[in-house]
Amino acid sequence: MKAFYESFYTAVARSAAHATFCARVFGRDLAQHGFANVAQLEQLAIATGLRAGVHALDLGCGNGKIAAFLAECTGARLTGLDYSEEAIRQARELAAGSEGRLSFVVGDINHLELPPATFDVVLAIDTIYFSDDYATTIRAVTAALRPGGRLGLLYSYGREPWVPREQFPAERLPPERTPLADALRASGLSFQTWNLTDAEYDLAVRRRAVLEELHEQFAAEGNLFIYEQRMGDAEGIRQAITEGLHARYLYLAELPTGTDTGSG
Ligand SMILES: C[S@@+](CC[C@H](N)C(=O)[O-])C[C@H]1O[C@@H](n2cnc3c(N)ncnc32)[C@H](O)[C@@H]1O
Repeated sequence: MKAFYESFYTAVARSAAHATFCARVFGRDLAQHGFANVAQLEQLAIATGLRAGVHALDLGCGNGKIAAFLAECTGARLTGLDYSEEAIRQARELAAGSEGRLSFVVGDINHLELPPATFDVVLAIDTIYFSDDYATTIRAVTAALRPGGRLGLLYSYGREPWVPREQFPAERLPPERTPLADALRASGLSFQTWNLTDAEYDLAVRRRAVLEELHEQFAAEGNLFIYEQRMGDAEGIRQAITEGLHARYLYLAELPTGTDTGSG
């Protein structure tokens, strides 16, 4: 998967087709590889309390454009972490003009080495899926939060196209029963959720339509691998939602103020 992301971020930096795709589907070109549009990012920013004076970690930040957008909208300071060296190279170019509001590090979600009790907010925008053990990752980022810190995750869960319908555990779709909910509870965190599944469906339909219109442009750029990967995603999600086997949520967990952060 890492090789895919190195190719993806290398291609995206020069792809007018992908920039048009993101702008038309998500409302702004932030080189998204997740499923969050501008409305979802704004909802995440409000829920987690991003504002001037707040320092947030963006886990799986890609090339930093989402972090830059959130910093611009809210005045918060953002640090992004991603394992793609190419993505972080591009992100650091953005940081250079940010007067210290943005910084970026190469790191692996599965081997996090974060300074303890440092961040006010941790964001995971369509990245927790890459954790080998959600509870371990959540404990690691929780330890990096200050007392009273907030953890905001945009998270989709559903049947992948290669999983037979009867084998998908539909009883785990409600927000309090997903693998992420289990991991938050295992880390001692209670949480609130918002259901974004209707928006996810609309965005999947829109992704398909816009991709079809941009097919020739992706082909002319030599970037059909992006077209195919994104089309597969969009169609898989649209189909699974139609079957009632896919959901998307915003999860928000808040640490108690002035108590143990759960580290160790
Ligand atoms: C689905 S994309 C989401 C990117 C961005 N947050 C967005 O919403 O567009 C997943 C991101 O996680 C990064 N990633 C995947 N596995 C990772 C890992 N083990 N450690 C750190 N980053 C990882 C990828 O490079 C990619 O930028």
